[in-house]
Amino acid sequence: MTDTTPATSTYAWWQKGIVYQIYSRSFQDSNADGIGDLRGITTRLEYLAWLGIDAIWLSPIYTSPMVDFGYDVSDYTGIDPMFGTLDDFDAMMKRAHDLGLKVIMDFVPNHTSDQHPWFIESRSSRNNPKRDWYIWRDGRNEGPPTNWLSEFGGPAWTYDPVTFQHYYHAYLAQQPDLNWRNPDVRAAMHDAMRFWLDRGVDGFRLDTIEHLIEDNQFHDNPPNPDYESRMPPASMLIRRYTTNQPDIHEALMGLHAVTDTYPNRALIGETYLPLEQMVGYYAHGIHLPFNFNLIGATWTAANIAQLIKRYEALLPAGGWPNWVLGNHDRMRIASFIGRAQARIAAMLLLTLRGTPTLYYGDELGLQNVDIPQHRVQDPWEKNLPGLGFGRDPVRTPMPWDATPNAGFTTATPWLPLNADWQTRNVAAFQCDDSRMLALYRNLITLRKNEPALSIGAYGKITAQDDVLVYERVHDGRTLCIYLNFDAASSSIKIARPATILLSTRTDRIETDITRQLDLQPNEGVVTVCAATPSEK
Ligand code: NOJ
Ligand code: CA
Repeated sequence: MTDTTPATSTYAWWQKGIVYQIYSRSFQDSNADGIGDLRGITTRLEYLAWLGIDAIWLSPIYTSPMVDFGYDVSDYTGIDPMFGTLDDFDAMMKRAHDLGLKVIMDFVPNHTSDQHPWFIESRSSRNNPKRDWYIWRDGRNEGPPTNWLSEFGGPAWTYDPVTFQHYYHAYLAQQPDLNWRNPDVRAAMHDAMRFWLDRGVDGFRLDTIEHLIEDNQFHDNPPNPDYESRMPPASMLIRRYTTNQPDIHEALMGLHAVTDTYPNRALIGETYLPLEQMVGYYAHGIHLPFNFNLIGATWTAANIAQLIKRYEALLPAGGWPNWVLGNHDRMRIASFIGRAQARIAAMLLLTLRGTPTLYYGDELGLQNVDIPQHRVQDPWEKNLPGLGFGRDPVRTPMPWDATPNAGFTTATPWLPLNADWQTRNVAAFQCDDSRMLALYRNLITLRKNEPALSIGAYGKITAQDDVLVYERVHDGRTLCIYLNFDAASSSIKIARPATILLSTRTDRIETDITRQLDLQPNEGVVTVCAATPSEK
C-alpha cells in the first residue's frame, strides 16, 4: 500500500514548532533598572534552546510611554531605550537565529499611543492631513457619539477640547484607535512591518485584531443579556458594532500580502472570539488565530474532549490548529487548576494536534503572585481596582537562580518575585528531575522525536470518567495519551498492549501495559501502542 502521509519536511516551522512567549519586561534585566531588556533576553536564549522550543514571541519592545506597557506604541520602527537599541535587537536576533530559534514580534495595529506623532498631528486641528488617521466624531446629546465601552472600563470615547470632537479608543484614552479604512494608515503600517521583516523577523503576533475596524454607521452596541458582575464592565454590551466587522477581511489580507512577500514568515492573531468566529480568521490570512479556549475552560475530561472535537470540526480545510495555556493577560494555569493538574495541562498542551504556545514561567509552575496595592502597575487594575482584572500577578520576573532578586536584576524588580523564588527557579529545577521544568523539557523532546505528536492526525478522542484519552497517529505509529483529571486513581481497559513513553509523575514503575492501565491521581501518560499483526 502506498503511504500517503505527508513528509515531516512539508510542514512549516510554525506548524511543527513550539512557540514560547517572553514578557520582555520580566525576562532578564541587564542594566540594573529592574526591568527586563534585549541584552538580558540575549543572555537567556541558550536556556530556551536547552528547553527545546523553536520560536520566541517578544511582548512589545517599541518606543512607548508604557502606559499599557508597550501596547501604546509611539514609534513602530524604534526600540524603547528601556529595552535597548536597534543594535541590541539585531544582536538578539542573530544569537536567536544562530541557536535555531525563530523570532516573532508583537505588532500593535489597532491603536497607537496618544504620544505618537501621528496622533499629535491628528488632534491638532480638524483639517490636519492626519485627522482621518484616527476616528473622530461629534458628540451626541452632549455625550459621546455612541454607547461603546472601553475594554479597560468607562466610555470608549474621549472628548478633545481643542477641536470639540471625541476620539475612539477600544482600550485606554492613551491608546487612540487608528482608522484602518484610511489607505494611508494601511500603507504606513505595512511599511512598519517591512522594516522588521527586512531585519529578519520571522513573524508577528498581531494584537487584538478583532477590534481593527468599527461600524462606520456608528450604531450603538446592544446590551448583553448574559452579563455577570464577575465579567469586565465592557462586557455589559455585546460588541456587535465594535469587533469582527466585515471590512476586517481586507485589512488583514493586506497584512498577509506584505508578510507573504517574504519566505517562511508567520502571522499569529490575537482573537478573543467564540470558536465559530475565531476560525474565520484563517480565511483572513492569519496562519494561527490564537486558540485561547483552554484558558479558563471547565477542567474536566469530558469538557476538554468536547472542546478538542468542536475545534477540529470547525477548522477550515488547511487551517492549522494551535493551543495556548496562558499569556500576559490571563491567570496562570498553575493557579487556575493547581500545580498537580498543571502537569496534566502541560502534557495536554504538548500532545494535542496544533502549535503549542508556552508562557514564560509556566515551565516552573509559577502561580499568580500577590501584588501589594502600592506596587500595582497595570492600568486595568488602576482603573478598576479590586475587581480581579489586574494582570501584574502573571507578569512577575522570571526567577533564574537563588542569588539576590533571583538573578533577574541587581536592582529592585519592577514587580515582586514569586514568594518561593529561592527554591522555585530555573537553576534549582535544572538539578531536579521531579520538577515541572523536567516534565516540560521531556514533553518537548518527545514532541520533537515523535512526528505523531507534532504533525500526526487524531485517532479516537474520548473521556472515560475523569480520564481524557486520545490517539495521535503518523506513518503507522500510534501514540495514545491518557490524562487523569482527577485527584483519585483510575483504571482504564486498553485494547492493545502499550509501552509508556512518559508519565507526568516521577514515581511510575510499571511501563509495559497489557490489558489495564492504572493511573495514579493526577497522572497523565503518553504510550505507544504495539503494532497489530497487520501493521508489522
Ligand atoms: C491585548 C494585549 O495582549 C493586552 O496586554 C493589551 O493591553 C491590549 N491588547 C491592548 O493593546
Ligand atoms: Ca533593564
